[in-house]
Amino acid sequence: MDGKKWLKVVIFLCLIAVSTGREFKVKAKNKHHAAIYNHTLATILVEYASAVYVSDLTELFAWTCSRCNDLTKGFQILELIVDVQRCLQAFVGVAQDLNAIVIAFRGTQESSLQNWIEDLNWKQLDISYPGMEDAMVHHGFYSAYHNTSLRPGVLTAVKSAKEFYGNIPIIVTGHSMGGAMAAFCGLDLTVHLGCQNVSVMTFGQPRIGNAAFVSYYRKRVPNTIRVTNRHDIVPHLPPYYQYFPHKTYRHFPREASSSTQNPVVLDF
Ligand SMILES: *[C@@H]1O[C@H](CO)[C@@H](O)[C@H](O)[C@H]1NC(C)=O
Ligand SMILES: *[C@@H]1O[C@H](CO)[C@@H](O)[C@H](O)[C@H]1NC(C)=O
Ligand SMILES: *[C@@H]1O[C@H](CO)[C@@H](O)[C@H](O)[C@H]1NC(C)=O
Repeated sequence: MDGKKWLKVVIFLCLIAVSTGREFKVKAKNKHHAAIYNHTLATILVEYASAVYVSDLTELFAWTCSRCNDLTKGFQILELIVDVQRCLQAFVGVAQDLNAIVIAFRGTQESSLQNWIEDLNWKQLDISYPGMEDAMVHHGFYSAYHNTSLRPGVLTAVKSAKEFYGNIPIIVTGHSMGGAMAAFCGLDLTVHLGCQNVSVMTFGQPRIGNAAFVSYYRKRVPNTIRVTNRHDIVPHLPPYYQYFPHKTYRHFPREASSSTQNPVVLDF
């Protein structure tokens, strides 16, 4: 990984680290199934969401990368899934200290992320979420998880982890586009694999679906939190189109927004 990328990762991590719980404004969109924002957990998960950007797979598999110390020490990777062509990456492993299966997704690189964002603005919600009437989602993010080698890799690893470790909780995370994929994965694990203990925490995740999709999602994966920063352009795209509610992207039930004034761009 080159220096520039690391710098941005470090900036992102520092930003999370200096934001105390007090500075995080948690907006409750749904009081009934409100997920609780846990800042300690967020500082751990952001390490996983960063580690999945490491391109040295040997280091990653052995969990010896520089992000692989400290808060995530002892993590055991079960499966590393790489889609070289689309520049996607994910891992599934077990964090003994959290007593949980952790799944992290890497989105695409910065240059192609720009394409995704433009695509997001122009094409809007262009695919129906299967099995749910009126639920529309963003095609690109949907297929990055559902129509690549990532989904079969993740599902196989989760099945074998559950055989070995029993019904331990599953935590899915990712940054930016990786966050969008994490959300689709969390829903998939709940709906198609029948997992009951899935939580999702993403960082700088763009919006992925319309109101019907969000209400469907919210019922199935209530324990979802998007950590966003107002200077990070990604989670605020695409814009709300308030006169076309069925075409409007919605945020997930809970959003923890860092109120720091530092003009930091959070893409990797
Ligand atoms: C927050 O998460 C940490 C790490 O998983 C855990 O040790 C702690 O008990 C959690 N705090 C609350 C209030 O749930
Ligand atoms: C999935 O990928 C195949 C082959 O790349 C493509 O033909 C198909 O349209 C894709 N489906 C979706 C839903 O994106
Ligand atoms: C989810 O995991 C927690 C912590 O291990 C456990 O207490 C709880 O019973 C689990 N819930 C379900 C539905 O499996």
